[in-house]
Amino acid sequence: VRHDDGPDPGGPAALVLAGRAWRGGRLEPVEIAVGEDGRIRSVGRVRDAGRRHDVGDRVILPAATDLHVHFRDPPGPTGVESIATGTVQAALGGVGLVGEMPNTSPEVSSVDALDAKEARVRGRAAVDVLLYASPGSPSALGALAARAGAFKLYLSPTTGIDRPVPPEELPGLLGRLAGLGLPVTVHAEDPSRFLDPRKAENPAAWNRARPPAAEEAAVERLLKAAPPALRVHVAHVTVPSLVTKLRSAGVSFEATPHHLLLEAKAKADARFKVNPPLRGPAERTGMWEAFRAGQIPCVASDHAPHALDRKQGPFDLAPSGVPGVETMLPLLLAEVRRGEVPLPVVLSSLCDRPARWLGQPMGRIAPGHRANLLVVDFRARSTVRADRLHAPAGWTPFEGREAIFPVEHWRDGERIVADGEFVGRPGGTVVRPDFAPQPP
Ligand code: NCD
Ligand code: ZN
Repeated sequence: VRHDDGPDPGGPAALVLAGRAWRGGRLEPVEIAVGEDGRIRSVGRVRDAGRRHDVGDRVILPAATDLHVHFRDPPGPTGVESIATGTVQAALGGVGLVGEMPNTSPEVSSVDALDAKEARVRGRAAVDVLLYASPGSPSALGALAARAGAFKLYLSPTTGIDRPVPPEELPGLLGRLAGLGLPVTVHAEDPSRFLDPRKAENPAAWNRARPPAAEEAAVERLLKAAPPALRVHVAHVTVPSLVTKLRSAGVSFEATPHHLLLEAKAKADARFKVNPPLRGPAERTGMWEAFRAGQIPCVASDHAPHALDRKQGPFDLAPSGVPGVETMLPLLLAEVRRGEVPLPVVLSSLCDRPARWLGQPMGRIAPGHRANLLVVDFRARSTVRADRLHAPAGWTPFEGREAIFPVEHWRDGERIVADGEFVGRPGGTVVRPDFAPQPP
């Protein structure tokens, strides 16, 4: 009898998941014992199996964490998503925790708005949700921090954000946030570097209108203003030079699947309009090379669905944003199968690092972590097709690409996806960061 990760506490486990997992540099057979509390109890061979679920040579992975989604709840007049619909897509895409952004109407910048949002998660979410807040008034910041999961700052206008943080207010705001201990994510584009975006008529022109230089300037400003105590993270980085800069500054950041896989074309198609814009081949290739080399700490979807009819209207009037929570992990698992990126890189940047950034005991197959697990069959390749996805918006920028969707998804040792279908209940809860030392 062997227990790879210390002694098994004994007594029958609530569940034993048997299959293959990435351990010590390769895929090897494992038995994962899950306790009554839904936490992983041991990884190795299990003496005393209660209920046993054997997936053969299929691969067991930790569920992913998506740091950045817009589930548009409350939906407002143009919303085509909700906590209920978005979290089912997350579950089917292998995402066990989402960070829900505050740019809804009303914006989540008060305790009341946060309460309302929390009420919309209860009984409706298929996976767990962490709620971002916008800072709002300085006097309410402490009360907001006591309830929110993280803060989001917008340095430029984008969907739902007309008044970004003015440059002169940034240092003071970051100073106040640093004392509150919550993670802070920043949308870093500098609008003073934008050309006239109203003249842009296609994604390539959108890229020129909100250029890489605007992102570089905003990150520069942020790094100057951020106190060392601030837990700061830069959203959707698209420029390879910033990967180098942020890594040497020791600042967390994310890249999105659309910026890693898609390039800006001159065809007028607003489905590919997003902030920051899709870039050209040089930036896209540079970001992919950095990703496969393990230099991108986190990948997040920036899932931002908009109604198809608004995306099919004139480019200049169309809203920015693309859906992606259901396809993020499946697209990258297909890249793993093709040998384009190592599996441990995907596990680190989609599962482990994002969960640790939000102070959550998940993202690794290790004792003490939540049994939020996926079962993947690398032979089960499929093609992304909007009509097979579960987004009410009904379209995807990844149409036709290869993907490997998880066959199963377990939440706290309870199966919520079986044979690629959602079979769970809306048991997802609102989580907040816990930066006390986590299980190894
Ligand atoms: C996002 C949205 O639609 O909410 N749009 C986008 O282009 N990414 C907002 C944002 O993250 O900028
Ligand atoms: Zn976003």
